[in-house]
Amino acid sequence: MVGKIAVAVMLILAAANNIAVHGEQAPPAITLPGCPDKCGDVSIPYPFGMAPGCFLDGFEVSCNRTFDPPRAFLARGSQQNDEGYYLSYEAAVTSTNYWSLPVELVDVTLSRGEARAYGAVVTDCTPTNESYHVYRRQLTMLDSSPFVLSSSRNVLTGVGWNVQAQLTKSLYSSGYMLSCASLLQFPETAASGSCSGMGCCEANVTAGLRYSSVTFAHKNNSFWSPNPCSYGMVVEKNWYNFSKDDIYGNQTLPRKFPRGVPFVLDFAVGNASCPAQGQPPLDSYACRSGNSSCVNATSSAGYICKCWDHYDGNPYIPGGCQDIDECDLRTKFPELRDVYPCSDDGICKNTPGDYECPCKPGMKGDGKAGTCTEKFPLVARVIVGTVGGLLVLATLVFVFLLRKEKQKMKEFFIRNGGPILENAKSIKIFKKEELKRMTRTYSHVLGNGAFGMVYKGFLDEQHPVAVKKSMKVDKTQKDQFANEVIIQSQVIHKNIVRLIGCCLEVDVPILVYEFVSNGSLQDILHGENKVPLTLDKRLAIATESAEGLAYMHSKTSTSIQHGDVKPANILLDDQFNPKISDFGISRLIARDVAEHTNDVIGDNNYMDPVYRETGLLTNKSDVYSFGLVLFEIITGKKVVYGGASSFVKSYLDTYLTEIRANKVLFDKETGEKDIEHLHCLIEISKECLDNNVDKRPEMTDIAERLQGIIRARRFLN
Ligand SMILES: *[C@@H]1O[C@H](CO)[C@@H](O)[C@H](O)[C@H]1NC(C)=O
Ligand SMILES: *[C@@H]1O[C@H](CO)[C@@H](O)[C@H](O)[C@H]1NC(C)=O
Ligand SMILES: *[C@@H]1O[C@H](CO)[C@@H](O)[C@H](O)[C@H]1NC(C)=O
Ligand SMILES: *[C@@H]1O[C@H](CO)[C@@H](O)[C@H](O)[C@H]1NC(C)=O
Ligand SMILES: *[C@@H]1O[C@H](CO)[C@@H](O)[C@H](O)[C@H]1NC(C)=O
Ligand SMILES: *[C@@H]1O[C@H](CO)[C@@H](O)[C@H](O)[C@H]1NC(C)=O
Ligand SMILES: *[C@@H]1O[C@H](CO)[C@@H](O)[C@H](O)[C@H]1NC(C)=O
Ligand SMILES: *[C@@H]1O[C@H](CO)[C@@H](O)[C@H](O)[C@H]1NC(C)=O
Ligand SMILES: *[C@@H]1O[C@H](CO)[C@@H](O)[C@H](O)[C@H]1NC(C)=O
Repeated sequence: MVGKIAVAVMLILAAANNIAVHGEQAPPAITLPGCPDKCGDVSIPYPFGMAPGCFLDGFEVSCNRTFDPPRAFLARGSQQNDEGYYLSYEAAVTSTNYWSLPVELVDVTLSRGEARAYGAVVTDCTPTNESYHVYRRQLTMLDSSPFVLSSSRNVLTGVGWNVQAQLTKSLYSSGYMLSCASLLQFPETAASGSCSGMGCCEANVTAGLRYSSVTFAHKNNSFWSPNPCSYGMVVEKNWYNFSKDDIYGNQTLPRKFPRGVPFVLDFAVGNASCPAQGQPPLDSYACRSGNSSCVNATSSAGYICKCWDHYDGNPYIPGGCQDIDECDLRTKFPELRDVYPCSDDGICKNTPGDYECPCKPGMKGDGKAGTCTEKFPLVARVIVGTVGGLLVLATLVFVFLLRKEKQKMKEFFIRNGGPILENAKSIKIFKKEELKRMTRTYSHVLGNGAFGMVYKGFLDEQHPVAVKKSMKVDKTQKDQFANEVIIQSQVIHKNIVRLIGCCLEVDVPILVYEFVSNGSLQDILHGENKVPLTLDKRLAIATESAEGLAYMHSKTSTSIQHGDVKPANILLDDQFNPKISDFGISRLIARDVAEHTNDVIGDNNYMDPVYRETGLLTNKSDVYSFGLVLFEIITGKKVVYGGASSFVKSYLDTYLTEIRANKVLFDKETGEKDIEHLHCLIEISKECLDNNVDKRPEMTDIAERLQGIIRARRFLN
């Protein structure tokens, strides 16, 4: 993990450099304002600094520009001792000269509180049988300096055929703190690779060292050629790669690393630990960036400052710690994808102090943990897709059918004579939908006849209507239909059921009639809810029915025959005023249903035998049927087919005789005048039933005669 972070930090620095090179964005400041931040290739972040006021105590760096590129050294500082300096000591067999050298900086890693510096490779060589050459150095860091030798990141390394490297406190101390040895019998047995005692040895460094010097144990001076030298160094762990060639030759390692080898210094700021929790920090508190925290140094007094996780920059300067755009880093440096995980199913989103990786839409789980899964499994999606598809299909089919239906409605409308009827003012043309609404979707059935159904509907609250839905219309009669409708719509008489309108958008036109509330004469005379009627009432019904029929017969332009006069076709309103229904159009419609091969239709019971024979419908046919209706009105008896007119006539005679004998008519005392009037009625009925068509009276005559009787009775009362 530490390694990963190290890589990350390096890459972040690299990224920052890239940005700087491309000039896209100013790199974040690493120094106090106005302070130089580089010496040659080396970045110098605060608390390190080169100019006065640009560094914290002990962190001064001097940049020697006589080199190209310039090189950075830990400066001597204000104190007049040897802080921060190597003391070097070089000696031939007898020489004891020594002098001081500054420590050269390699780089600074603020996030770890580390600085790397170049250290010497010390040597102990016997190049000839006469010369003895020793080169040693001492590292000196005063107690007041911010640096200690990192114990975790450095090792003491010895290299040679026969070497025993030792770490002492100083050039002249006798006891050593640690040592390592590689004592081979033959130099050929040295093995390149790890420093495990085969020509190279390694020892961990003690913690907290501020002074150190490498030296060698007893040296056999007689290995001059080809292995005259032993080497020793304190070096960054894992930096030096041992090669067995290194134990051969004169001064091989110093030649290989002329500037020295890097070693690691831990640094800490201040001379006290972090402020305790809840304690206000000292004025000198160094962690001056937000988004940063203080960490106690482990190997010395003092502390270091660190940006919070997911922040990067310089915690020692105000505003130094900036949010890391992890997502941007992920795209720029694929190797960081393990450090900042976000699966392919997730969407990387940077946030201040972190980043998010929500799953893509339609998925659930966590992209950071790589657990994004489809919210809807494939099967569910297939099902949803299929259902959706079917729905769309159903809608299309519906729309198609709707259009087809509309077209059909239009066709029906035209075929049923719509264009002609549209111009007729007296008739109202209903839309199919309108009728559906008026009849509450055909919910109230008034009657169920042989020719179809009759439903109750409402033009509005006050105006009920009867809506007649027939079964089928003879195709050959369709042409006549519109004509008939127009004629009928002009038939306006108080005793004829009024045709209000029709709907043509259907195969068989639907007819809308005036609503007559009290049912038919058939129901009143013979039905379950028979109503007792006085002679006057009966007379009135008969008279007005006759008037209705007479009106039809006498229409000047076109005389209209009913063709099916019978009690069932005489409706009664709430005042028992009769209204004749079911003629004309009804007949057209009925013809198809009646399945008669000839054109003779109508109720057999009431059919004129002449019409039955000839098939020719005349006014007199209606007169005949009316005669039978009159018979029923008078007697309350029902006519049944087969009863020849002669039978009806004789029954009427018998009936009259009976009334005369009993003096009772319709549960009422009968006066002489009543019987006389009854007699007149019977006479009219008989005349109507005459087999000789010519002897039958006209409907107008009948109406007049009946009115005469009424007037006579009024006069009597
Ligand atoms: C820079 O380095 C050169 C060569 O080692 C040395 O002579 C000079 O004194 C140094 N300058 C400073 C300012 O340390
Ligand atoms: C060994 O190397 C040192 C330093 O480079 C040099 O002074 C010395 O003369 C060399 N000795 C021999 C025998 O090459
Ligand atoms: C060193 O070797 C040379 C010849 O290689 C010899 O002349 C000389 O005496 C030797 N010196 C000693 C001290 O053994
Ligand atoms: C050095 O220390 C590490 C742990 O810090 C340990 O694993 C390693 O074995 C030590 N090496 C030696 C040579 O003592
Ligand atoms: C030094 O090495 C030589 C040659 O290998 C050997 O003869 C001699 O005994 C050694 N001396 C000591 C003190 O180990
Ligand atoms: C030692 O080997 C490692 C891995 O191959 C390499 O990264 C490193 O640079 C090498 N060290 C030196 C001083 O060449
Ligand atoms: C810590 O440093 C401050 C300022 O550098 C100094 O005044 C103080 O005496 C030091 N304290 C200790 C215990 O060294
Ligand atoms: C640092 O050490 C001080 C004293 O030991 C302690 O009070 C403080 O909580 C520590 N701070 C942290 C961040 O560990
Ligand atoms: C902390 O980081 C956020 C995000 O980068 C930044 O906006 C804010 O200014 C920082 N806070 C401080 C005190 O620097």
